[in-house]
Amino acid sequence: MAVIVGSVMTSHVPAIGGAIAKGLQDEPYWKPFFDGFAPVRRWLAAVRPDVAVVFYNDHGLNFFLDKMPTFAIGAAPEYRNADEGWGLPPLPPFAGDEDLSWHLVESLVADDFDMVTCQEMLVDHAFTLPMALLWPDQRWPVRVVPVCINTVLFPLPSAARCHRLGQAVGRAVQAWDADARVLVLGTGGLSHQLEGTRAGHLNKAFDLQFIDSLTRDPLWATRFSINDLVKQVGTQGIELLMWLAARGALPGAVAELHRNYHIPISNTASGLLLLEHRG
Ligand code: DHB
Ligand code: FE
Repeated sequence: MAVIVGSVMTSHVPAIGGAIAKGLQDEPYWKPFFDGFAPVRRWLAAVRPDVAVVFYNDHGLNFFLDKMPTFAIGAAPEYRNADEGWGLPPLPPFAGDEDLSWHLVESLVADDFDMVTCQEMLVDHAFTLPMALLWPDQRWPVRVVPVCINTVLFPLPSAARCHRLGQAVGRAVQAWDADARVLVLGTGGLSHQLEGTRAGHLNKAFDLQFIDSLTRDPLWATRFSINDLVKQVGTQGIELLMWLAARGALPGAVAELHRNYHIPISNTASGLLLLEHRG
């Protein structure tokens, strides 16, 4: 049976891709951010996952406002990104794990999660940049299954439901009849708001409480409504739902091995958390 090795939760900001393309990792602005990933990369080199299930939110590259699934899952042999308008170079394609994708689709639909199944799917900066931060040589050593949660067009799924989706994914992965080590990624947040009168809104106190909660009381954030979360962390900070889904996918005990929190990267409070699954 498959084994869940742990989870990496991280922010995603297009400017990170610009910094990678220009080689700015050691510049004073970027160093505290990029340095945060070294311990995660060491852990990955030791743990050697075969597959990554990636909870992320699309920003209009694959799904636009005319058709917006609440939950979608990739079931493609390969995933590519494309020009999102940020001027970022496209990264090498990502190999899909079709067997795990279809296993998850069957299991999640049986579990009453009405996933939109995507046999073709473009993945945007929310997917590609965390991968490039974890594997800077961009020779991806894992097959991937993208799981997309809507955070751009209201109504959004509740925090509690996103956590339950994560739990259903975790159960399904553990029931997957494959000799595979599975990593769970969650990318988005933490606090940020890009538009309107609250543009630039950050909330360090809430972000840190949220990070703490993922080990001490993983259901803490599920007690907030979407509107209350948006008030706390901003209209894009709501992307922290991806962290909550990823945490839900780790059944049983976890150990926090590493974290980093750095304000700001572009308009975003950037967070990074590594949880090892101790079953
Ligand atoms: C920024 C952050 C995001 O999460 C995003 O998707 C786009 C831009 C930013 O802070 O610039
Ligand atoms: Fe985003």
